[in-house]
Amino acid sequence: MNTREHSPEPTPVATSYWAIVPAAGSGKRMGAGKPKQYLPLAGKPLIAHTLENILQWPGLTGIVVAIAADDREFEKLAAAQDPRVHTVTGGAERADSVLAALEFLSEHADPETSVLVHDAARPLVSGRDIESLLAAGPTALLAQPASDTVKQSRDKHGDPSVEQTLCRDRIWLAQTPQKAPLAVLCNALKTGLAQAPQSITDEASALEMAGYHPQLVPACRSNFKITHPADLILAEALLQHRQTLENIQSGTQA
Ligand code: C5P
Repeated sequence: MNTREHSPEPTPVATSYWAIVPAAGSGKRMGAGKPKQYLPLAGKPLIAHTLENILQWPGLTGIVVAIAADDREFEKLAAAQDPRVHTVTGGAERADSVLAALEFLSEHADPETSVLVHDAARPLVSGRDIESLLAAGPTALLAQPASDTVKQSRDKHGDPSVEQTLCRDRIWLAQTPQKAPLAVLCNALKTGLAQAPQSITDEASALEMAGYHPQLVPACRSNFKITHPADLILAEALLQHRQTLENIQSGTQA
């Protein structure tokens, strides 16, 4: 069990902030014939769970969702009618979609405003983890300390045999939300995409290239990204046991 699941109450946060949800991907790894954010989960599209979760975060000003140019599903969601929800057209890669949302926000929000970028495919992030992230330093991200032994293969595709075992003591798996001030993140992403686009796989990697050291905030195990078909079954089971899950996350149940 993750140590975070028994940590003390996070400090309440009064600040206001925006969320950005990149949801313009095709979700090819799911092999489902439609973008994974619209696959059914417990009776409604996956992204509906994520947006309804975010709309309950304390202090939230609004959400900017990056959707594909040919998206015809988003407007059917109940959350799309919420006045706090805005859309922009996403780009070719996740970072391009996030940048489109940041540029929209730059015209509507203070440059110092905190922005939390959260994947559409992580519907089960806990409210306590959001409070911890908001209470962390100005640049921060939810992440999971590696619990398995970490192997490096000799070759990405052709040769899956082991080259070496990495020391996992300092290995964390980055999740979302990832937090930064609006202008800081916008500038870091623009520069990172211009200099080394293939290295920008999340917001933190752009911030790192710009010289920042975002704070790693341990996340509950429920914050996994739905990537493969079996993840939908797991998420559905967790949604059915939400109260038990919340008790575990708040430390009232082992
Ligand atoms: O494919 P992956 O799971 O890494 O995508 C993470 C998030 O980024 C998803 O919510 C997906 O919809 C989004 N994305 C995007 N624009 C792209 C590619 C992915 O908004 N061009």
